[in-house]
Amino acid sequence: MNPVIIANWKMQLGIAESATLTGQLLDHCRNKKPAVTVVLSPSFTALSTIGGLLTGPEIKLGAQDVFWQDRGAHTGEVSPLMLQELGVEYAIIGHSERRALGETDTDVARKTLAALAHGIRPIICLGETAEERSRGQQEDVIRRQLEKTFRSAPPPTRNQVVYIAYEPIWAISPHDAADPEEADRMRLFIRRTLIDFFPADLVESSFMVIYGGSVDAENVTDYVGPGKYRGALVGKTSLDAQKFCQLIQNVGRKFTGD
Ligand code: PGA
Repeated sequence: MNPVIIANWKMQLGIAESATLTGQLLDHCRNKKPAVTVVLSPSFTALSTIGGLLTGPEIKLGAQDVFWQDRGAHTGEVSPLMLQELGVEYAIIGHSERRALGETDTDVARKTLAALAHGIRPIICLGETAEERSRGQQEDVIRRQLEKTFRSAPPPTRNQVVYIAYEPIWAISPHDAADPEEADRMRLFIRRTLIDFFPADLVESSFMVIYGGSVDAENVTDYVGPGKYRGALVGKTSLDAQKFCQLIQNVGRKFTGD
C-alpha cells in the first residue's frame, strides 16, 4: 500500500477558495512522486465542485465526516450513499474536534462500519488530551478508543483498508509538534493493540497507521517513512499549495529512496 497524505481543510475554505487551492495543487502535484496517495478533504459544500476538478488519478476525494445511516429523518447529516454519489473514496471519522463536540466511540464505530459497507476508506482519528498525557494515560486512552471502535465492528476484509490516524490533541496546531520518538512509541503501541484484536496478517494487509498534528514539509519525515508512520493527516500546511506539495515530495523521496 502506498503511503498516504490526507489534507484536512476543516471549516477553513469556501467553494471558490477550495477550487483555487485544488487548481494550484493539481499544477504542483503533476510532478509528485506517484508512490504517494494524496487525498483532499474539503468541506461538504465544496465536495461536488472539488470532485469535478479531480478527474485524474493524482488526487483522491475525502470527506470530513460520514453518518451511519443510508437515508432517513436525520436532519443535517450526510450519508455514505450521498458521499458515494460525489465520488468520495475516503472519510475522516472521529476527529478530536468532533469528539470535543460530543462524538462518541460508539458513533465512530457506526460510522466506520457504514463507510466500509459502502467502499469508503475510513480514517479513524485517535488521540489523548494534554491532561491525559500529563497523567501518563495516553496508552489507556488509545486502547479504549480502539477497543470501543472495533468491539461491535466485524474486522475489515483483506481488500478493505482502515486508516488509523494517531493525533495527539496537544500537538494539533496551533500547539507545538510532538517529539517524533514519543509519537513513534505510540505507533508501536497502536500496532500491538491492533494485533491483540485481529490476526497479525490482517493488521498488516488492512490497517495503515498514520500521524497527525502540526506536520509540515520540514518535520514530516521525522514521523513518516519506511519503518515509521505510513502517512500523515495534515491540517494547516495543507492550506498552502507550495508547502503541501513540498511535504508530499519529501514523503515520496523517503519511500522511494531518491
Ligand atoms: P494540523 O491539523 O496539521 O493543523 O495540526 C491536523 C488535524 O487536526 O488533523
